[in-house]
Amino acid sequence: MYDYLIVGAGLFGSVFAHEATKRGKKCLVIDKRSHIGGNIYCENTEGINVHKYGAHIFHTNNKKIWDYVNNFVEFNRYTNSPVANYKGEIYNMPFNMNTFNKLWGVITPQEAKDKIEEQKKEAGITEPQNLEEQAISLIGTDIYEKLVKGYTEKQWGRSAKDLPAFIIKRLPVRFTYDNNYFNDRYQGIPIGGYNKIIEKMLEGSDIRLEIDFFENREELEALAKKTLFTGMIDQYYNYKYGVLEYRSLQFETTIVNTENYQGNAVVNYTDRETPYTRVIEHKHFEFGTQEKTVITKEYPTEWKSGDEPYYPINDQRNNELYNKYKELADEEKNVIFGGRLATYKYYDMHQVIGAALTTVEKEFADK
Ligand code: FDA
Repeated sequence: MYDYLIVGAGLFGSVFAHEATKRGKKCLVIDKRSHIGGNIYCENTEGINVHKYGAHIFHTNNKKIWDYVNNFVEFNRYTNSPVANYKGEIYNMPFNMNTFNKLWGVITPQEAKDKIEEQKKEAGITEPQNLEEQAISLIGTDIYEKLVKGYTEKQWGRSAKDLPAFIIKRLPVRFTYDNNYFNDRYQGIPIGGYNKIIEKMLEGSDIRLEIDFFENREELEALAKKTLFTGMIDQYYNYKYGVLEYRSLQFETTIVNTENYQGNAVVNYTDRETPYTRVIEHKHFEFGTQEKTVITKEYPTEWKSGDEPYYPINDQRNNELYNKYKELADEEKNVIFGGRLATYKYYDMHQVIGAALTTVEKEFADK
């Protein structure tokens, strides 16, 4: 008899399995995919760690979590500095003095601030009625037209005029020549890829792959005293209140017979016409020097039941629906829910580790 059946070998399930095993518990970890790691899984192609479910850059301000992951693997010094390609013009991201210099030829922060203010004034928007007006009221027309509009419309699959203003609360603008995307104190990529972390975390647990919990539910639950569930919460309750909605993505990955395809790990395509939002060149996450390269084009797509659920749509309808499922989950005695799918939340990796450690503390508090 296992102490825990862990449904999902992603980061949440793996942190929990590691901590439970450390405390002498026996865990069975299952996943419906053919590999461990969930969405942080890397596939080795041409000697390059390919981020199969989208680019993953670890970053955090929390020293405890940084020290925690560094127990499993060493991190390199990768710093995320994406560039935007707008119809062949290249701009630095996030919006900073390099971007403003390229756009307007301004040199000093004051000149850049004056330019943005001038454009905001010209637009004359006092009460933004939609995302377009909101963005222009925050950063002016030039940055909006070249770097925000097309990208956002592709991401959401509709015109910025039809999207609510609240989606963009602020658009980070930096008046220094600093291309580092994150403000966090710690960031990097695990040397040798993310799989190393998960493999270490799952040492001591039994693992069964290509097993869908819902196809073998009773049989699996009978194997353990308790279940940790990291799959979709609405599916757990057989969608009895309705289906929670997501945005999805499609990835098109190709091997290119060149050493260096785009000179950066992440290039955003910010025009409306290019159908993908980003091109990832995986080798640059680890400063790779392989002969060939692997690139992935990322296409945002509508989600329908059965598609890979990537981004929860946390609007009022879905949040209310989730709260109804959460009420049921809170009543469960022998099932713990955790991770991005079971809590219907977008979590970065450091947040998922933090949440898993909180669950561990609660679970083992008096044991
Ligand atoms: P995750 O989805 O990884 O794991 C759940 C597992 O449960 C999956 O393996 C699934 O197969 C399994 N499962 C589900 N239902 C099941 C069933 N019925 N039976 C058996 N198994 C089942 N974060 C960050 O910090 N920096 C970044 O750069 C990025 N980038 C990024 C890009 C994209 C495109 C996305 C979508 C997300 C990111 N993230 C990120 C977030 C990161 O992916 C996320 O924090 C973790 O992967 C979440 O781990 P979980 O364990 O919660 O879910």
